[in-house]
Amino acid sequence: MKTVLITGVSRGIGKALTEKFLKEGHYVIGTSTDGNSDIKSDNLKIVKIDLSNSESITECVNEIKFLNKKIDILINNAGILVDRNFNTVNIENLRKTLEVNLIGTITFTEQIISVLSIGAHILNAASSAGSLAKTQEIDDDEYPSYRISKTALNMYTRTLAIHLKDKITVSSYHPGWVKTDMGGSDAPMTTEESAGYIYDLAISKVETGQFWFKGEKMAW
Ligand SMILES: NC(=O)c1ccc[n+]([C@@H]2O[C@H](COP(=O)([O-])OP(=O)(O)OC[C@H]3O[C@@H](n4cnc5c(N)ncnc54)[C@H](OP(=O)(O)O)[C@@H]3O)[C@@H](O)[C@H]2O)c1
Repeated sequence: MKTVLITGVSRGIGKALTEKFLKEGHYVIGTSTDGNSDIKSDNLKIVKIDLSNSESITECVNEIKFLNKKIDILINNAGILVDRNFNTVNIENLRKTLEVNLIGTITFTEQIISVLSIGAHILNAASSAGSLAKTQEIDDDEYPSYRISKTALNMYTRTLAIHLKDKITVSSYHPGWVKTDMGGSDAPMTTEESAGYIYDLAISKVETGQFWFKGEKMAW
């Protein structure tokens, strides 16, 4: 049984991931912004966090440390897309997006690293929208703040992978275009399908510092 820490388990991919890990017999510590989840299990502990608030991050980290468990898998799943209807950078949206998707996620990760086990796996939910290689192919300028946040998160994956070399594996992944509040109803993938691929990646021994989609390396 592994101990898995997943951010943003209230809905979407994070909720499906939680259900998958519980079904496979693991213990899950999940976060949500209101401290609640409608999943009921003795193997699930929910902790409150708002990644845009540094005090909330510290309180959440302290609560997790108090559980006295070594974490085997950390999935930084929580994220926001606030500039959906913008094709130019709106600075207020950029700040909001970076606070959660980048600064909050990094702050949380840096504070929680000390309770990760040797051989642990950290997975960061990036996106094909943050791939520099993809922008050369598709010439798409929608939601720039979100793209910028995910490209920067990928650089965190790379630098952290080097920093933690031979101790902890660090990966970025694209979850697919998934039917959630963020992905919308036209998305082709279900949350269960996406969670299945992320689960397989999380429990696998993979090369550190890589960007994954459906078990294959993706171009940065
Ligand atoms: N869906 C897609 O097609 C797609 C594609 C590429 C990448 N992704 C990435 O995959 C991840 C999950 O996406 P999703 O579609 O499942 O998103 P979602 O349905 O919108 O769910 C987002 C999750 O993040 C949490 N969250 C939002 N703001 C937060 C904050 N300030 N502090 C802490 N948690 C916060 C939410 O918690 P509350 O319910 O408490 O607000 C919720 O659990 C995200 O990082 C997203 O960027 C998704």
